[in-house]
Amino acid sequence: MKRLAILGSTGSIGRSTLKICESYPDRFTVVTMAAGGNIDLAFEQSKRWKPKVMSVAAEADAAALRKKLEASGIGGIDVVHGTAGTVLVATHPDVDFVVSAIVGVAGLEATYEAVKAGKSIGLANKECMVAAGEIITAEARKQGKPLLPIDSEHNAVHQCMRGGRLDEVKNVWLTASGGPFLHTPAKDFAAISVRQALNHPTWKMGRRITIDSATLMNKGFEVIEACRLFDMPPSQVKVIVHPQSTIHSLVEFNDGSILAQLSVTDMRLPILYALTYPERVESDLKFDVLSMKKLDFYEPNLDKFPCLRLAYEAAEAGGAKSISLNAADEVAVAAFLDGQIGFTQIPEVIKAVLDETANTHPESIKKVLECDAHAREVARQVIERKEKSVTKVLSH
Ligand SMILES: NC(=O)c1ccc[n+]([C@@H]2O[C@H](COP(=O)([O-])OP(=O)(O)OC[C@H]3O[C@@H](n4cnc5c(N)ncnc54)[C@H](OP(=O)(O)O)[C@@H]3O)[C@@H](O)[C@H]2O)c1
Repeated sequence: MKRLAILGSTGSIGRSTLKICESYPDRFTVVTMAAGGNIDLAFEQSKRWKPKVMSVAAEADAAALRKKLEASGIGGIDVVHGTAGTVLVATHPDVDFVVSAIVGVAGLEATYEAVKAGKSIGLANKECMVAAGEIITAEARKQGKPLLPIDSEHNAVHQCMRGGRLDEVKNVWLTASGGPFLHTPAKDFAAISVRQALNHPTWKMGRRITIDSATLMNKGFEVIEACRLFDMPPSQVKVIVHPQSTIHSLVEFNDGSILAQLSVTDMRLPILYALTYPERVESDLKFDVLSMKKLDFYEPNLDKFPCLRLAYEAAEAGGAKSISLNAADEVAVAAFLDGQIGFTQIPEVIKAVLDETANTHPESIKKVLECDAHAREVARQVIERKEKSVTKVLSH
């Protein structure tokens, strides 16, 4: 029986993980959970899974959840909050496997502390690999514990890598659906609305990753994540647009053989793989091979999707540049979702922040978080300046 901590239990990946736990009750038990602000769902999950610890983001929400559980006669759950709460969830002594699925750097400290505590990790939170991948992978190597990718592309690469040695790999090919704007002319990009950008053609995901998929920044993050997870330079991690999202990624070996992983577009499969690795277990997540009539591939258009270019540049530089890339993107995407900036301004904000970021290499999680906070502040200032200039234009 594997004893799990689920960081981000109320999110898309967290809920899919719980579905896997429902399907395999003899294999997995949920020991601890961490949610953000969705207290109603955190309550329902506490009732259903009776974790030893449930963490939520805010202190006031923790108090409200505690009260609600008490009123319903549900005891034995330690309700905690904030970063200290997520760290407690991730490092609980009764946990042996941590699913890291909080979105953004909010999940960074808990993920790092889990690695340091010697837990095995199922990694969905790509932003923490972008910001601190070098530090996290070094610690995992020290602990001799695996970082098993849940992100479908890296999960596919992990599966294909079982076909050869790392030093036999020539290139990794990450597939990208291309998002909802693959065929939209560049001249129409400025008018893209939040509703259009949230309408992903093949995957149902959280809001931030859906916007990141529309700008292709998500693929850029995945390039950095792949470099860190598989210890490869950015020049060997290629992106190829594949709108059907049938092939989740490919690994090209030095003899010319290319291995690909194909499956349904359902995150429960990579989660199940990570949870049961190195075993494979029966599942109902079957892919109908005969349905595969057509597989298209294109080179990504870096002029239309400058976020991908920025990500490659940050991948080459590493350190502070990749921390800023993620921080600026998080702030810019939130501003886009709030209607403060337009779609094409997302890469503009990120570029401005990267231009102001020194090429340094923070060596601790504390330093990473300081660098992240600074980049966020710069991003907010850039957005404010953009808003002011729009107001000025409109008032003339
Ligand atoms: N969804 C996918 O298919 C997919 C695929 C590959 C990788 N990923 C990666 O997996 C991660 C999660 O993605 P998602 O799509 O599941 O996102 P999501 O649906 O937005 O869920 C995010 C989770 O993080 C929690 N959270 C947010 N801020 C928090 C905080 N300050 N403290 C504690 N918890 C916090 C949320 O809690 P509340 O909802 O309670 O606020 C929620 O449980 C991301 O890094 C994403 O890039 C996702």
